[in-house]
Amino acid sequence: MIMENSTVERSRGKDGLLDELSQVEEEASRAIARATSSKALAEAATLVLGKRSALSAIHREVASLEPEERKEVGQRLNEVRERLDELVTQKREVLSAREREEQIEAERMDLTEITPSLLRGHLHLVTLTQMELEDVFVGMGYQVAEGPEVETDWYNFEALNMPPDHPARGMWDTFYLDAGEPESVLLRTHTSPVQIRLMLEGRLPIYAVAPGKCYRRDTADARHIPVFHQIEGLVVDEGITFGDLAGTIETFTTAYFGPQIHSRLRPSYFPFTEPSAEFEITCTICTGRGCRTCSDTGWVELGGCGMVDPAVFSAVGIDSERWSGFAFGFGIERCAQMRHQIADLRALIENDIRFLEQF
Ligand code: PHE
Repeated sequence: MIMENSTVERSRGKDGLLDELSQVEEEASRAIARATSSKALAEAATLVLGKRSALSAIHREVASLEPEERKEVGQRLNEVRERLDELVTQKREVLSAREREEQIEAERMDLTEITPSLLRGHLHLVTLTQMELEDVFVGMGYQVAEGPEVETDWYNFEALNMPPDHPARGMWDTFYLDAGEPESVLLRTHTSPVQIRLMLEGRLPIYAVAPGKCYRRDTADARHIPVFHQIEGLVVDEGITFGDLAGTIETFTTAYFGPQIHSRLRPSYFPFTEPSAEFEITCTICTGRGCRTCSDTGWVELGGCGMVDPAVFSAVGIDSERWSGFAFGFGIERCAQMRHQIADLRALIENDIRFLEQF
């Protein structure tokens, strides 16, 4: 008696159903054809094939037909369903292929705007300068050596003729590490401890340069940065004189800065050399005429040098009666500054690509 009140499920008979099936097939095909996006197609598919579709309503009515008629209408129903399924599948493929193409087109990037050569990096100016300095000395027959950046007090100070409390230690504001005895392990303040390491190796004569990082408790300004690079030179041989030192410095200066730039030595003091000198070069900004950078002197200080002090030889067990030598040490950043007229050394650590790409 449930069926009695039902208006929807009233049977239309075999012919009625077959007619309706053809109509449904036509309308549904058109609805599928009209869909212009995957989303619209999915909606259309639910409408024509889903539980609430005309097709499902017909399916429910088929049950009330006589077996013979049921078979005929049932077959036709399956045909229609399969055909509509097929149409949806085909349409879905067409639409999703087109949507994918549209998406690729929308997300496309114009890579021709980026010229690969503009993006190619290169070594930092400080590294390039270090390599060029090494080349100059290798050309003069020197070996390139290295030492650790973390040093002990003994290598950085004591073996260099600075016993504890020596006033000259104040020349270097030191970073100490929290390791071992207090103030016994530090970040090297200069590359001079590599002199000690080279001499302790015990192979004489020595002609070596040792470039590398150094650390001092300085506040960065136009002419100082707390982490910087030095290149140390050490020569130990028989019969080495101060003249050899002066000649070596001059040869290096003209080789690296060019023939119009010269060097001069002025008396100075370092505990590990005697006599000691400051090593200056012609100001590259004014080529010696005098300017603000050189305080109108025409000369700019590059580093320190001198003859190896006999106290240093005795700390490393070298006989100073037989051997003599000289050492020098100067700033790599300062060399780059002088060579390329860089007003402010901090440009070397700021990593501004517009500055770095010029070199
Ligand atoms: N180590 C010294 C400094 O850092 C420079 C120097 C090196 C002086 C070798 C003399 C000999 O200032």
